Amino acid sequence: MRIDSSTTGDSRESLLDVAALRADTPGCREVVHFNNAGCGLLAAPVLATMLDHLNLEARVGGYEASAARAEQVRGFYTEIAALTGCTPDNIAFAGSATHAYSTALSAIPFEAGDVILTTRNDFISNQIAFLSLRKRYGVRIVHAPDTPDGGVDVAAMAALMRSHRPRLVAATHIPTNSGLVQPVAEIGRHCRELDLLYLVDACQSVGQYPVDVAEIGCDLLTATCRKFLRGPRGSGFLYVSDRVLRAGYEPLFIDMHGSRWVEPGRYQPVESAARFEEWEFPYATVLGCAAAVRYARQVGVDAIARRSPALAARLRDRLAAVPGVRVLDRGPRLGALVTFAIEGWRPEPFKAALDARNINSALSFREFAQYDFGDKDVDWCLRLSPHYYNTEDEVEEVAAAVAELAGRRAGAR
Ligand SMILES: Cc1ncc(COP(=O)(O)O)c(C=O)c1O
Repeated sequence: MRIDSSTTGDSRESLLDVAALRADTPGCREVVHFNNAGCGLLAAPVLATMLDHLNLEARVGGYEASAARAEQVRGFYTEIAALTGCTPDNIAFAGSATHAYSTALSAIPFEAGDVILTTRNDFISNQIAFLSLRKRYGVRIVHAPDTPDGGVDVAAMAALMRSHRPRLVAATHIPTNSGLVQPVAEIGRHCRELDLLYLVDACQSVGQYPVDVAEIGCDLLTATCRKFLRGPRGSGFLYVSDRVLRAGYEPLFIDMHGSRWVEPGRYQPVESAARFEEWEFPYATVLGCAAAVRYARQVGVDAIARRSPALAARLRDRLAAVPGVRVLDRGPRLGALVTFAIEGWRPEPFKAALDARNINSALSFREFAQYDFGDKDVDWCLRLSPHYYNTEDEVEEVAAAVAELAGRRAGAR
């Protein structure tokens, strides 16, 4: 992979050698992949790392292979720590962002009447988890209002922090259902001032923007590796701050990896965030994640953060000009997720028409975003999410395909 060399196409702002990055990405030869918010395309070195480890497991045995690669496994923690601005001891591997999130929630000793303060754009599974906590423990869920332009009203949220003294403040950096980028660091400043426990879902932002846990001021942060980090499926991580580790938070179901059974009647949690992990690991996946994060850092997260949202902004502009298309993304800052409604089509046939053109996309439904889609008065939308290895030509191709389909409206019948 060559980076920081010539620019290609009209990616004038970009320092990235997009042609080289695409050559490094086998999927670019097969599809127009605008579903990075679902799952990014693996880069060749990431794939090679995983296949190599699976081969080693087959040859020498699974336990023996992980012992032989202990140093490289450690690379998972050092790479994520370098990416997010913490130490390797603050990072736990998780099989998904949702697993990381529920493990973190399980560590909080909620009591009846405790308040969880969150936003109207937090991720569907997080909202369901809060509702489940309400059902079991009688916690109260308070949603901070949005500003008229979209995105959470931080001043109103801070006022709710003061009046409710929540047990937990939770915010999703970039929701799954729109291009909105929430001001998580501003929220964090209020949490630090008031010493409130703060959990951030950075699933869609790691690999797309710089994510620095100190700057955000969070206690806990969750993410997947498969989306904008371009890691393998079935992987994610949880950041746990020193504050939280020192305070003794531990997951409800801690195992023999997260703790030591020191006496028949007592266990002792380990000092680090490994307390939030389980003993069994998919080692090929863990090594693939390390390779993916190393790759993203070599490409340069700042350069990625300039290019991916810029491609999305270009796509938004093109789509906004198409009759029958309503771009739904609102907010002062928009990232690499583009969502829109289209007249005259039902969801599945519309997506299938894009699939038939080799264009990868995703559907979002009202159920994924009850508040946001209620406010926007839509039942579904199509989501297109380019990444830095996509090209301006692909943006034009995708926009032209949508325009053609909007003209045809064949799916209406
Ligand atoms: C904002 C956000 N949070 C959390 C998740 C859940 O991630 P996972 O599927 O790895 O559990 C997603 C997945 O789309 C997401 O978009």
